[in-house]
Amino acid sequence: MDAKELQPIKQRYGIAGNCEALNHALDTAMQVAKTDLSVLITGESGVGKEVIPRLIHDNSLRRTRKYFAINCGSIPEGTIDSELFGHEKGSFTGAIGEHEGYFGAANGGTLFLDEVGELPLSTQARLLRVLENGEYIRVGSSEVRKTNVRVVAATNVNIQAALRDGKFREDLYYRLNTIHIKMPPLRERGDDILLLFKKFAMEIAAKYQMPERITLSPDAEEVMKRYKWPGNIRQLKNVTEQMSVLMRDSRLVTPEVLSEYEIWPTIEEKGGLVRVSEGTGEAPTYASEREMLFKMINALHIELKELKQHISSSGTVQTVNVPAVTTPAVTVPATVSVSPTVEVPPAVSVSPVVTVTHAPKMTEHDEPTPYAEEYVEESLSLADHEKRLIIKALEKNRGRRKRAADELHISERTLYRKIKEYGLDEM
Ligand SMILES: Nc1ncnc2c1ncn2[C@@H]1O[C@H](COP(=O)(O)OP(=O)(O)O)[C@@H](O)[C@H]1O
Ligand SMILES: [Mg+2]
Repeated sequence: MDAKELQPIKQRYGIAGNCEALNHALDTAMQVAKTDLSVLITGESGVGKEVIPRLIHDNSLRRTRKYFAINCGSIPEGTIDSELFGHEKGSFTGAIGEHEGYFGAANGGTLFLDEVGELPLSTQARLLRVLENGEYIRVGSSEVRKTNVRVVAATNVNIQAALRDGKFREDLYYRLNTIHIKMPPLRERGDDILLLFKKFAMEIAAKYQMPERITLSPDAEEVMKRYKWPGNIRQLKNVTEQMSVLMRDSRLVTPEVLSEYEIWPTIEEKGGLVRVSEGTGEAPTYASEREMLFKMINALHIELKELKQHISSSGTVQTVNVPAVTTPAVTVPATVSVSPTVEVPPAVSVSPVVTVTHAPKMTEHDEPTPYAEEYVEESLSLADHEKRLIIKALEKNRGRRKRAADELHISERTLYRKIKEYGLDEM
């Protein structure tokens, strides 16, 4: 299928983008849909793997039969065999009734095994058997059953390490991998990044009836295209949503705004991240000045982070106004066009987080700061938003904190702290 023929499919599934690798993936999915071949979808986390199995099922001859999407990483090891292959009554403590299992229930249909690399080795053996000849045995039974299920599996890039370490069976890998669909990382999608940003900005503006959606300045577009996007489209969506909600005075996203969300133009080199300095197509002087600027903003950012930590641990907001202290350190070359906005500190939203964490300790003699009200208001919306994002991530990952933290791009410890802070312990 050419790009034009794929258009209605993209529309139907809300897929934005037109890069060759994405079109190739969608085209392959459409081509194999009508067959019963196993499909393995690979790609980093957040690249959009989950839409592919749905598209395959909906366009297959099995479309009127059952489709189940199972996240293998979220089912405890002790119950996964029973979930997938069923169990007999009384086969283990708590097995009150018999259970059909997904392979039985999906007979005639499609099973999507997401994060298949997380399956324990014993389950992998069972899976290989059912893929080879459609046979499986329920937990606690000796009766061999038959099923006719089409399996589509997905895994992130970690499967290579699992193969190397003997944690994933090679024979199963090759069996699942009959057809391989590779979803490209966002950083390799060129202008699609801007397209996706626009889509998400429009969607959130419509959802919350905002008068205007956020847009990118030409410089910010460059930054977006040169950023590494470790969390891929999921991250782009989150950041766009956050900016849409939090940007008030202006709806124009500049590189400085992006820097507040840790969006820097980076490339990967020898396993580490370095800032882009070559191949920008601009005059070298401008490129190097811009680079210097990014360095300074980065340094500033680190300083603010430390400050934030310091404030959190000291438990007061007295230092809230301190960020301004760091300003003199930034002396920007006059020739750099974006320099006026480099007086970043007031714009860098450190204070809201601080006030969220620790309410101001005021004594009778304290005069409230003139900005106190503003801080509180901002902090509430930020806190609300942050809380919502955390709940969303926890729900999506069924309470698995490690995964939720990865998705939110925060450490597990920070997530733990925030869960406590927002009283989400019950989740
Ligand atoms: N091409 C795309 N167009 C629009 N949204 C997308 C696209 N690809 C992914 N998304 C969105 O990005 C998020 C992550 O996608 P998902 O399929 O869950 O990623 P993965 O399973 O690869 O980690 C989802 O909200 C999804 O709707
Ligand atoms: Mg996924």
